[in-house]
Amino acid sequence: MFHTRFIVAENAQEAGALAADIFENLINVKPACVLGLATGSSPLPIYAELIKREKEGKIDFSRVRSVNLDEYKGLAPDHEQSYRYFMQENLFNHISIKPENTTVPDGLATDVDAMCKAYEERIEEWGGIDLQLLGIGHDGHIAFNEPEDHFPKMTHEVKLTEMTIEANKRFFNSADEVPKSAFTMGIGTIMNAKKIVMIVTGAGKKEILKKSFWGNVDPQVPASILQLHPDVTVVCDKDAYPF
Ligand code: F6R
Repeated sequence: MFHTRFIVAENAQEAGALAADIFENLINVKPACVLGLATGSSPLPIYAELIKREKEGKIDFSRVRSVNLDEYKGLAPDHEQSYRYFMQENLFNHISIKPENTTVPDGLATDVDAMCKAYEERIEEWGGIDLQLLGIGHDGHIAFNEPEDHFPKMTHEVKLTEMTIEANKRFFNSADEVPKSAFTMGIGTIMNAKKIVMIVTGAGKKEILKKSFWGNVDPQVPASILQLHPDVTVVCDKDAYPF
């Protein structure tokens, strides 16, 4: 079993800054690195920090490449709830990353198999993901890999669970508007990343954090697979830390 590193911050803001340090260090030693990025509330303080740090001249995104974890099926890139739109609004539009160096699954893909295959190929062509950022769902999902009887390997289509639809409806007018399916990197794609940083904040995540890193490795708790990755850092706040 590998040892997951835990960094416990005072609050979400500080957790964001501490996680941003890991990104800053990597970008400075490897300017053309490949970042795996996430959406959701948890990464927002990190993205705000990274934007600020580039403006201050501490980092340079002009050669960085990125690949996102997931996208809702059926949402166009300019749909306000699409993950492409989220990334543009919360990070890409404010940093020097080149548009052609950013990748989010195509929510409108009609040939799903071809899109998923091309997604994996792009990651491989770029030499793999140097640093993958993750959040965690209340059911232990990472990206959109929901609890299942196995760990899905590569980028694929998933049906979202009621729990995830419920959790994500806060961004839509109603639960009915939340797409029922999504495209997501697989657990295998994530496990292939050279380094993983997970950001977890708020008391609501305490229980699942404990289950994921102090419980059994079990596909019913997808994040528990991270116990088998050699380089995982969890940056959490005091409220989310189980001890
Ligand atoms: C986002 C993603 C999801 C979120 C998770 C936690 O790209 O893949 O797995 O990381 O749902 O979301 P928040 O941070 O909003 O609690």
